[in-house]
Amino acid sequence: MRIKLSMIWATILLIAPCSCSPSLETLATLPLWIENVVVRANNKLLLTTLGTATIYTFDPSFPSQNATHLVTIPDANGLVGIAEISPDVFITAAGTWNFSTGDIISSASIWRVDLRKNAPEARLVVTVPESNLLNGVAALPGCNNAVLVSDTFAGIVYKINVKERNYEPVIQDPLFAPPDAVPSLGVNGIRIHGGYLYFVNSDQGLFGRVPISRTGHATGNTEVLFRINATETTYMDDFAIDGLGNVYIATHPNILYVLDRYGKVKTVLDRTELNEPTSAVFGRGRAKDRLYVTTGSGKLVAIDRRELS
Ligand SMILES: *[C@@H]1O[C@H](CO)[C@@H](O)[C@H](O)[C@H]1NC(C)=O
Ligand SMILES: *[C@@H]1O[C@H](CO)[C@@H](O)[C@H](O)[C@H]1NC(C)=O
Repeated sequence: MRIKLSMIWATILLIAPCSCSPSLETLATLPLWIENVVVRANNKLLLTTLGTATIYTFDPSFPSQNATHLVTIPDANGLVGIAEISPDVFITAAGTWNFSTGDIISSASIWRVDLRKNAPEARLVVTVPESNLLNGVAALPGCNNAVLVSDTFAGIVYKINVKERNYEPVIQDPLFAPPDAVPSLGVNGIRIHGGYLYFVNSDQGLFGRVPISRTGHATGNTEVLFRINATETTYMDDFAIDGLGNVYIATHPNILYVLDRYGKVKTVLDRTELNEPTSAVFGRGRAKDRLYVTTGSGKLVAIDRRELS
């Protein structure tokens, strides 16, 4: 169980519930916690899961079919963030945890999953022995060989060099730190957009951004764009950013916040179908208005972005 600090954050935003009622379509179900999602160029989705270190795949062109097993990472029992570093090559973070206590059993590792061949090929990039929870993964734009990865318990963002198989901390800031000792959660979902690293700090209840260089180092001050009163059951997780810079934040226990690019709340979708939403991503090409949301209750849900404004 987590020990929570009393919330000290002033609320800066008035939140109005969504007057619209977008339709939510459940596309696939797994008997597992789905933790994260990424979309391939062919629009197939890759889903990471906790409880087994498996990547499942779902093809939206065959919506009557369920998600299917794609590849399992050895020596781990959960996969967290996932991002594409070059066409059809993905980086994912793995670990082994005791899911009833939250304790780490073996430390975090970073894997490269190559889907360019007939059979998926998974290979270890590096283990990060000092980390107990590598979580969000974001590809560094213009670079085929590096990702940023959030360490949620330590409040650090690492840069992983995939080719040289090494890593270094690039961002450490009180706004990234957890508010309390393990298992309190700090920086969680991360995405890079327009020269900024956007991030959620789950238990501080904030969404913010920091400008970064091409090499992934912070080049300015961290800015807070949105705050909620986080609790043990209400906390932001991972998020998607659309082409205009609007942000769609998966928030436990069943909320999707839509912020415009200035950090004002546009929509709050509070729906029981979104049971423990964990992440969100947009489709590619013709599916660019389709927002996919994953849930800890094992669902992959689709929402039309145009119904959310
Ligand atoms: C998880 O922790 C519980 C409680 O300490 C323990 O009984 C159980 O054996 C642990 N499971 C694993 C897989 O280590
Ligand atoms: C957060 O908590 C404060 C203090 O209890 C309260 O005044 C405020 O309305 C809450 N904000 C939200 C968004 O629930």
